[in-house]
Amino acid sequence: MGAVEVRDGFTALYGAEPEGVWSAPGRVNLIGEHTDYNDGFVMPFALPHTAVAAVSRRTDGILRLHSADIDAGVVELRLDALRPQSDKEWTAYPAGVVWALREAGHPVTGADIHLASAVPAGAGLSSSAALEVVVALALNDLYELGLPPWRLARLCQRAENVYVGAPTGIMDQTASACCEDGHALFLDTRDLAQRQIPFDLAAEGMRLLVVDTRVKHAHNEGEYGKRRAGCEKGAALLGVDALRDIAYDDLDAALARLGDEEEVRRLVRHVVTEDQRVERVVALLESGDTRAIGPLLTASHVSLRDDFRVSCPELDLVVDTALAAGALGARMTGGGFGGSAIVLAGAPDVDTLTKAVEEAFAAAGFTAPRVFEAVPSPGARRIS
Ligand code: GLA
Repeated sequence: MGAVEVRDGFTALYGAEPEGVWSAPGRVNLIGEHTDYNDGFVMPFALPHTAVAAVSRRTDGILRLHSADIDAGVVELRLDALRPQSDKEWTAYPAGVVWALREAGHPVTGADIHLASAVPAGAGLSSSAALEVVVALALNDLYELGLPPWRLARLCQRAENVYVGAPTGIMDQTASACCEDGHALFLDTRDLAQRQIPFDLAAEGMRLLVVDTRVKHAHNEGEYGKRRAGCEKGAALLGVDALRDIAYDDLDAALARLGDEEEVRRLVRHVVTEDQRVERVVALLESGDTRAIGPLLTASHVSLRDDFRVSCPELDLVVDTALAAGALGARMTGGGFGGSAIVLAGAPDVDTLTKAVEEAFAAAGFTAPRVFEAVPSPGARRIS
């Protein structure tokens, strides 16, 4: 939905024009998976799909929320009654952002918000981060808080970790807040140092497809927490702050030190090799050798499947089918256990690959996937 519809929707609901309209995108992660809570490297880019919010300030300590996507009417909340993990509905994301801003001492005194999102929900494409970031940016502008995008991302992560209660890393919110059109974001999640890497596949005769498997396996959140705890155990056993501190060249020695801690060894091997793959992808893109990143994407998938164990039959089927049909590389993207995969392909091969994946899903008796092309798009911004 565009700025005009969301503006009109706000006016119809609340009886006055909004003070402004903002948008924030979903993301795909090109490479660097399950590294962000290990202080490692990630490389997401913004999707053209965005969450859009029309917003006005209030001075009476009331937050009113409405979503064009959910048939739940206007939800009215008192700011002084916002409590972490008290809300299990979609409203926890925008309310959590208001809570996090106020908890950090920012003088937000209320808001009327009308939201609409085109980011597919439950597809591993950061629809919740888009909701958080669009609200954070709107309030930052309206209340003249002067917070830089990376700081808004941190506050949104706090909303998600503490208010919503999901133990995620910093990648999704930073991607939504900081990505730039035509670029992938090389992000060091330890200090949020950033480098925008030009990523124009079309100019080089390539395409990147997103395949949303449309499955979300039930154990998703518990398993994410277990992986995170396993990584923290690995760092503790190895005497480092985070697995990011294990250099690739020291991996064998680190694995030897972990002895018979087989599960931790696998997690450590994934994180340390994945960080190195991100650095190699950055080097290839910066030297103009984009086609050569394909095998690194595939190696990332193999590591996530076999060592980190966060893939699932549907994601593996996308990757195997795409590679057999001539893709340059393919991998799951996001947290795993369902959600989406990405496929790097030569431009002429896109239709054949799409058909091959659709047919393989039909033959396996899986729900038909949703396939679309991903083009690196702008990060969060004011649109009216
Ligand atoms: C989810 C989390 C991110 C990140 C990825 C895995 O998307 O929200 O913080 O950990 O999983 O890379």
